[in-house]
Amino acid sequence: MAEPEEIGSESREDTLKAGEAFSRRLVPGDVVALTGGLGSGKTVFIQGVCAGLGVREPVTSPTFTLLQEYTGRLRVFHFDFYRLESVEAVAALDLTAAFEGGGVCLIEWAERGRPLLPQDRFEVELASVFERSLPCPDRRRIRIVAPAGRETA
Ligand SMILES: Nc1ncnc2c1ncn2[C@@H]1O[C@H](COP(=O)(O)OP(=O)(O)OP(=O)(O)O)[C@@H](O)[C@H]1O
Ligand SMILES: [Mg+2]
Repeated sequence: MAEPEEIGSESREDTLKAGEAFSRRLVPGDVVALTGGLGSGKTVFIQGVCAGLGVREPVTSPTFTLLQEYTGRLRVFHFDFYRLESVEAVAALDLTAAFEGGGVCLIEWAERGRPLLPQDRFEVELASVFERSLPCPDRRRIRIVAPAGRETA
């Protein structure tokens, strides 16, 4: 597997920009698995991706609806698996329709359904940054692993 690409973020705006830059790599059919704890910035990163894709609708965590769909230059399926407790619960969703729907799938809390995701996918991991064991409120580390052949040059 390729080395993860690492991006430092000092603010919400940095994470939005990272998402926007990342959006330029996406093509129809791509699946992006986002992981990282509560408040790590998954939704903010996705807001940047959606802005980059020209989505005009508001983008928020679909925690209660599980899936929100937007349209920009590409169709966007925004999932949040937070409320799904098991892989079985994720399996009960019809993911195939989204994976094969000709859009891009952005999945928060993807670890809850990882075995059901396609092998060829982007992994985006967000993490808070600690200094002397104290969390730095506005700093995050973003790690991106691209599927084979899709790494940045
Ligand atoms: N560098 C940063 N990048 C992203 N968000 C940041 C940063 N610094 C501070 N924040 C704040 O952290 C919060 C991130 O919230 P966000 O909803 O994106 O997290 P999340 O990972 O989607 O959480 P959840 O698991 O609850 O869905 C926001 O309130 C944002 O303003
Ligand atoms: Mg979120």
